[in-house]
Amino acid sequence: ELDAELRAASGLVREVPDFPEPGVLFRDISPMLADGRALAAVVAALGRGHDFDVVAGVEARGFLLGAAVAQAHGTGVVGLRKPGKLPEVAHRVDYRLEYGSASLELPAGTLRAGQRVLVVDDVLATGGTLNAACELVRSAGSEVAAATVVLELTALGGRNKVPDVALHALLTA
Ligand code: PRP
Repeated sequence: ELDAELRAASGLVREVPDFPEPGVLFRDISPMLADGRALAAVVAALGRGHDFDVVAGVEARGFLLGAAVAQAHGTGVVGLRKPGKLPEVAHRVDYRLEYGSASLELPAGTLRAGQRVLVVDDVLATGGTLNAACELVRSAGSEVAAATVVLELTALGGRNKVPDVALHALLTA
């Protein structure tokens, strides 16, 4: 039931073997973003059917998508950042990756209590990043209205890390 535009867009996801480490098949949506029709279809689908006051996009490709979704809906956008970039951090979440650890930070002066937030990212893999993003939203007293990603790698079970979140993936692999 994928619409034709999204199906065409899905053909522009690039598969890169052995990145960032041997044995991992990396899915790069950069060529999809570089195509005007594909970008329009993806941005429209990411925002469709959700009720939200502001968008939170996850570094780095979630920034590109999140800003586009926000503009299409007349909302603002907040960038959830990797550590060491922000002059003032409202909250930080550390989480474990398959190998090693990672962190995401919420910029000060952005989300407010009671706001309904649409969390946007490109890929859902293990779900650690999305779970951290949702924790950041809640740390501000805001509500996760929904989370929306372009591509869900279903075999990794990332969805199970955010059982309480309305999670929508445009494409699965
Ligand atoms: C990718 C992707 C998600 C995250 C998903 O980002 O864009 O943010 O990994 O992985 P997870 O579900 O296992 O947490 P990446 O770490 O490649 O960073 P980048 O977007 O800054 O390149």
